[in-house]
Amino acid sequence: MAKNLRKNFTRETYDKAARGYAKKFKDLGARTQDVDKAFSLIDKENLSVVEIGCGAGREAEYILTKTDRYLGMDISTEMLEIAKENVPEADFAQADIDTYQFPKGVDIVFAFASLLHSSKESLFGLFTRMHNALNEDGIVYMSLKRGDSYSTAVVEDQYGPRKFYYYTRETLLEIAGSKFEEVFYEEQERIETWFTVILRKK
Ligand SMILES: C[S@@+](CC[C@H](N)C(=O)[O-])C[C@H]1O[C@@H](n2cnc3c(N)ncnc32)[C@H](O)[C@@H]1O
Repeated sequence: MAKNLRKNFTRETYDKAARGYAKKFKDLGARTQDVDKAFSLIDKENLSVVEIGCGAGREAEYILTKTDRYLGMDISTEMLEIAKENVPEADFAQADIDTYQFPKGVDIVFAFASLLHSSKESLFGLFTRMHNALNEDGIVYMSLKRGDSYSTAVVEDQYGPRKFYYYTRETLLEIAGSKFEEVFYEEQERIETWFTVILRKK
């Protein structure tokens, strides 16, 4: 395990190894079925979509086939540079989930494998801001790593150290609170256990 880790070491690892991560994620392919599912849940044209932790824009191109109102945000300037190269027609913004101010009138917030770098304290504030930003019946579509309980670990791969948070369905629903209702939950085994959850604004 890496010693003397700095506060923002996860972001630094993404910045330093952006090309490597971008290739790794791109090789996994865009999550077309997830995007289709989200769009099928809202009966409206040209939905407003914000993707948090969009990385190198793996989903952006496909989302843009369904709406022209897409904004991807990420903390890593280097990942965003690659996103802009990959999908020049998309809007991207650099920001930290902890302080990000959403535009008003959002229909779908996607968070694919990104909130796994955020603590539950951080998610409490995020859910309040997402609730304020979402339209009536708007949804949050997330994928996360599942733990047997809420927990955290620093994991080092060939690119460097990153801090991960593992969530349970119950912890996430508790954080989201009574202003959201769960409309979908599914677990997937992919080396580790992941889960997808869709929450709708009440
Ligand atoms: C595992 S990658 C997933 C990227 C992309 N969603 C995908 O699936 O290909 C996690 C992403 O979350 C971003 N991220 C981590 N912490 C963040 C934060 N506090 N605010 C915004 N983005 C963050 C990272 O920079 C990285 O691009």
